Amino acid sequence: MFAADVLKGKVALITGGGGGIGLEIATAYARLGAKVVVASRNQERLDGAVASLAAQGLEILAVQTDVRVYEQIRDAIETAVERYGALDILVNNAAGNFHCPTAELSPNGWKTVIDIDLNGTFYGCHAAYKHLKAARDGGCIISIATMLGLSGWPGAAHAGAAKAGIISLSRALAVEWGGDNIRVNTISPGPIGDTEGVRRLYQETGREQLERKKTALGRFGNKSDIANAAVYLASDLGAYITGENMVVDGGRWLKYVAA
Ligand code: NAP
Ligand code: COA
Repeated sequence: MFAADVLKGKVALITGGGGGIGLEIATAYARLGAKVVVASRNQERLDGAVASLAAQGLEILAVQTDVRVYEQIRDAIETAVERYGALDILVNNAAGNFHCPTAELSPNGWKTVIDIDLNGTFYGCHAAYKHLKAARDGGCIISIATMLGLSGWPGAAHAGAAKAGIISLSRALAVEWGGDNIRVNTISPGPIGDTEGVRRLYQETGREQLERKKTALGRFGNKSDIANAAVYLASDLGAYITGENMVVDGGRWLKYVAA
């Protein structure tokens, strides 16, 4: 649906791009002409991602990275710039989450999710800033959040707090870095079928049908729904959009309390 060269000439780094939604975004970006680097921890998954793109005639560079370690995400970004000469787009997609009532959550369980989701996003933005500022047509940051961050997320208070923090951080950076021609937005997906998130949070906890019913459209989304939003925001089509939280959730947030 997008012009085949809509991202031609852009360089993108996607954290957590070795699988799930991140890989879907990486694939869409590569198909539409971008040079793509994916950064996550598991080397086997990264190798699989490179191979699956190669089978489609597409190239991505994979850099093993733990976003909880500032030096590692900084080095992944530097590697992208060395290889492709610039960085135009950063997608903070990496996340960790598990269902756990807060009274049973250990301090380290809380810290682990905050470290991956919120601190990892800050580290990525911070390390990418000087390159995004130098990007020829302006820089772009997209971070993946969820409306459950704004409503509160019973059973995943750690992830909800982290995602709320990501939305707030992004809005602050949209203002601070707007003068540097860097756009900063978030995408808030609803439940996306066939992902680790849905398997872990809804299938494993027996809440799959209930969660489907909570969306206005009565169904889970597809990974491509999120990739399409990420293409739109990263491309020149989204050139005047910053500080936005694009909700791609089938109307779930409108009905969240309905059972
Ligand atoms: P996923 O398949 O589990 O993807 C998460 C990715 O993050 C994996 O590639 C994982 O790779 C990477 N990751 C985890 N910890 C990391 C770390 N410390 N450093 C670097 N990479 C790390 O989950 P998903 O469902 O595609 O979710 C993608 C994003 O969408 C997340 O931000 C999630 O919160 C958000 N989201 C998803 C849904 C949904 O329905 N799935 C709904 C709302 C929001 P490694 O384990 O190899 O590091
Ligand atoms: N319930 C309660 N606590 C849990 C838990 C669960 N299901 N899973 C992990 N924890 C706690 C651990 O007990 C530990 O705390 P402790 O030291 O007090 O015991 C803490 O969280 C860290 O666990 P650990 O397994 O050492 O973390 P890790 O760094 O190896 O893994 C996770 C991070 C836990 C987030 C792991 O699930 C992960 O890597 N996830 C990535 C993929 C993902 O979550 N996808 C969904 C995206 S929406």
